Amino acid sequence: MKTFPIVAVQSFIEATRDTGYKSTGSAIAEFIDNALEAQAKHVDVQIQETPNGAGDKIIRVTDDGTGMRPAVLRLALQFGGSTRFGSRMATGRYGMGLPNGGLSQARRLEVFTWANSSRVWSSYLDVDEIASSSMCAVPSPRLAQNLARPRTQSGTMVVLSKCDRLDCATPQALELKLLAEFGRIFRRVLHDGRVIKINGIPVRPFDPLFLAQGANVAGAKLYGPPLEYKLRVPAFVTSPASFSVVSVRFSELPIERWHHFSNEKKNDLGIAKNAGVSIVRAGREIDYGWYFMGTKRKENYDDWWRCEVAFSPELDELFGVTHSKQKINPTRLLSSILTPEIERIARELNARVRRKYASIKGEGTGSKTLNRLQARDHLIEPPRSVRESSTLKDKLPGLKLLRKRNDGVQGLRFAVTHNPEEHNFFFSAHVRDGLLSLNINECHPFYSSAYRQLASANTAGGRQEALQYVLLLLISCARAECLVNGPRVHEIMRRFRQIWSDAVAAFLS
Ligand SMILES: Nc1ncnc2c1ncn2[C@@H]1O[C@H](COP(=O)(O)OP(=O)(O)O)[C@@H](O)[C@H]1O
Ligand SMILES: [Mg+2]
Repeated sequence: MKTFPIVAVQSFIEATRDTGYKSTGSAIAEFIDNALEAQAKHVDVQIQETPNGAGDKIIRVTDDGTGMRPAVLRLALQFGGSTRFGSRMATGRYGMGLPNGGLSQARRLEVFTWANSSRVWSSYLDVDEIASSSMCAVPSPRLAQNLARPRTQSGTMVVLSKCDRLDCATPQALELKLLAEFGRIFRRVLHDGRVIKINGIPVRPFDPLFLAQGANVAGAKLYGPPLEYKLRVPAFVTSPASFSVVSVRFSELPIERWHHFSNEKKNDLGIAKNAGVSIVRAGREIDYGWYFMGTKRKENYDDWWRCEVAFSPELDELFGVTHSKQKINPTRLLSSILTPEIERIARELNARVRRKYASIKGEGTGSKTLNRLQARDHLIEPPRSVRESSTLKDKLPGLKLLRKRNDGVQGLRFAVTHNPEEHNFFFSAHVRDGLLSLNINECHPFYSSAYRQLASANTAGGRQEALQYVLLLLISCARAECLVNGPRVHEIMRRFRQIWSDAVAAFLS
C-alpha cells in the first residue's frame, strides 16, 4: 500500500536546498554559530580544491568546542533536530542550520565529532543517496577510521564535498569574501577574543559603524545617546523576562578626514555604497539593510552615517527572524515603534552630511587655494609627527601625499571645514596622518561676519581673491602652531590664539 509520509524526502531535499541562504558565507556562518555555541575558542575554515583537476571544492569547518555524543550527532543532522529547539538563549533554535546550511551548498555533508580525541564519531547526509532512496534516515554514527588524531581534546569538523552551489568560482575568491563577511557578522565575538580563520588567515573584526577600536579603521563618532525601546516579550515566548530592550545607535563618519579618499579606497574600507542599518541579534549581525527608514530613500550622502539596531532572541517574532537567521522582516508593530525616530535622525544626519560636503567642496576658490598650498608644502619643514610617521611602512594607502621632499618626507594635505565648536577660538586645527584639518568655528563672530560671506558659493571676483589670502594666512598660522613641540610651547600658542580670537571678536562687534 502506498504510504504518504508528511515529508516527501527526495523532493523536499532538492527544494529546501534552494531556500534560505543568500550567500555561501551565510550558510557557513551557521556552522560557526554552532561552534561558538559549543564554547569553541577557535574555528578554522579550510577551502580547498580537490586534486582531481575538475575544480571541485571541499570545505572543512573545524572547531575546538565541546563536540557531540553520537546520539546528539545523529539528531544534529536531522532537519529540525536540535538540542535547543525553541531556545531564546543565543543563536540556534530551529535545528535547521547544520543540515540546511550544509546541503544548500553541497551534495554531501559529513560531520566528525569528538568529546575525547581518541574516539571520533562521524555521520553524514548525501543528496544523491537520498535521491536514489538508498538513504532514508540519518545513518547511525560510526567511529571514524583512517583519520589523523584531532589536535584538540574535543571538537567538531563539518565537511562539505560535492559542492555544487558555492557562490564563488575559486577558493581564493571565497576566502576573500568570507574574510569580509565574517568580520562583520561575528565582529562582537572576534572583538572578545574568539578566533576564526579562513585558510589560516585570521578574520579581523569589521565594525560598519567605524566606532570600535581594534577593528577596521575607527574614526567615526557616536551621534547622540543610544535610543532604548523596552518592548514586551510576546506571551507565547518562553522567557524569564517579560520585557526586552531594543537599542539603536548612530555613528557619523569623519567626512573632513576621509572625503578625499579615492573611490577605490572608499570601497576597500567599506565606506562607499554601504549606507544602512546593521541588525544585530544576540551580538551577531543577522542582516544589513535599509530598515526603519519610513519614506526616506537611500542616497550617496547616507554612506557617511551608520545605524545599528540590537535586540535579543525573545523578540524574534517582532523582527520576523526566519530559521536561516540572516534576514529580518519586521512586523508592522515593530516598524511603527522604531521608524519615526530612526527616520527623523536619518534625515537629520543626511542634512548634516550635505552641509559638511558643502562646506568642504562648495567653495571652488577654497579648494583651488588648498591645492596650491599643498603643491608647495613639500618645500617647507614638516611637523615632527609627519616626519616620524613617514618612516612607517603602514601608512594609509589613500593618503598619498602630493610630493616628496628631498629628505623623503612628503608634503601635508589640507582640509578646511566650518562647524560649531564649544570653545571661543575662531579656528582650530590638528594634524593626523599627514592631513592638516582646519575648522572655522561657526560660533565665533569671525565666521558669521567675515568667513561665511567670503566662502559662499556665489562670491564675486574680488572676494574670491580675499578668501584665498585668508585661507593662506590661516593655514600657515595653523601649520606653524602644529610645528612647535613640547607641551609648554603648545600652551603658549593656544593662549596666543585665544587672545587673538578674543581681539577679533571685539573688533568685529
Ligand atoms: N559544532 C558543533 N559542536 C557541538 N554541537 C553542535 C555543533 N554543530 C551542531 N551541534 C548540535 O547540533 C544541533 C543542531 O544544530 P543546528 O542544525 O545548527 O540547529 P540549532 O543550532 O538551531 O540547534 C545543535 O542543537 C547542537 O546540539
Ligand atoms: Mg545552529
